[in-house]
Amino acid sequence: MSLALTDLLRHPVVQAPMAGGVAVPQLAAAVSEAGGLGFLAAGYKTADGMYQEIKQLRGLTGFPFGVNVFMPQPETPDPAAVGVYAHQLAGEASWYATGLGDPDDGRDDGYDAKLAVLLDNPVPVVSFHFGVPARDVLDALRRAGTFTLATATTPDEARAVQDAGADAVIAQGAEAGGHRGTHRDCPETDCSGIGLLPLVSQVREAVDIPIVAAGGIMHGSQIAAVLAVGASAAQLGTAFLATHESGAHVLHKQALTNPLYTRTEPTRAFSGRPARALVNRFLREHGRYAPAAYPDVHHLTAPLRKAAATAGDPQGMALWAGQGHRMARELPAGQLVEVLAAELTATRTALSAGGTR
Ligand SMILES: Cc1cc2nc3c(=O)[nH]c(=O)nc-3n(C[C@H](O)[C@H](O)[C@H](O)COP(=O)(O)O)c2cc1C
Repeated sequence: MSLALTDLLRHPVVQAPMAGGVAVPQLAAAVSEAGGLGFLAAGYKTADGMYQEIKQLRGLTGFPFGVNVFMPQPETPDPAAVGVYAHQLAGEASWYATGLGDPDDGRDDGYDAKLAVLLDNPVPVVSFHFGVPARDVLDALRRAGTFTLATATTPDEARAVQDAGADAVIAQGAEAGGHRGTHRDCPETDCSGIGLLPLVSQVREAVDIPIVAAGGIMHGSQIAAVLAVGASAAQLGTAFLATHESGAHVLHKQALTNPLYTRTEPTRAFSGRPARALVNRFLREHGRYAPAAYPDVHHLTAPLRKAAATAGDPQGMALWAGQGHRMARELPAGQLVEVLAAELTATRTALSAGGTR
């Protein structure tokens, strides 16, 4: 028998999977223990690395949790553009005294191997980013007792998620930190994205499956807003990035509320796919001409980002953040879940009494 979303969480709060070492087992455990849904991020890990984290998380909590998997990427339309970008990054490589990465270092992120692990050792929830798996994959996961979701950034993508047989859809608004989960990269079309409230309202009209709303949510009153327009839960990334258990680099955590960083912008500079980050030197200098080539550019810039972090230089790091970053609260993750739940209750009480917050 398949699970409902409400069986998986006591509060309508999902901690976003955050690849790159942010969504560590300690973070996911703290969120699940507090009644939210904690998530591991399998992106950029090997299948065995993912499995080791699942085992570690199982040792930390008996509550439900999720694992997020990246969909394989199509061939890059213009490999020559990656070569040009490599030349444009040569100065960065010499500044940080490192080389550039190999842009051909794989495009499927170990998808098949990860699915094999998740079917052999089922977990409560699996979500997919950058597309939607084939129906037989989602069916197999359901038979294994796993609840499935996939990200959508438009009503059409949400329909594709429902048609493929997923149990729920993550509606990711333009405000969201990190990579936009568009099913296809779209250099030729408008990539500015739909804001979260209009997106959730439109997705609600387009599909019948439950919606998890993501993008710019930092406060319980915003969770009340997305629930009011048809979501069943909210997925928060940037808010959990700042928590004690998050594995984010300390400079990344500090940057979220540092007044030096005045705004965020979607950029291809670090990975080749639009992803929202705090505007820093690297983004300003290279965002204008970075090619649409993911994950080639991700592989290419990996040593630069690592060297910048080692040198303690946030101006060369990918400071992923959503538009709500200024509202980040440096709390233990379990406490943040409780605070968000209390704010949600207070908002609903105030609204039903006819007041505001
Ligand atoms: C540092 C960071 C890493 C992320 N990595 C992933 C990921 O691995 N998989 C995924 O589905 N979403 C990822 N996201 C996007 C989140 O799932 C979510 O859409 C986003 O965090 C919501 O916006 P917010 O950051 O404003 O809360 C990431 C977001 C951030 C900030």
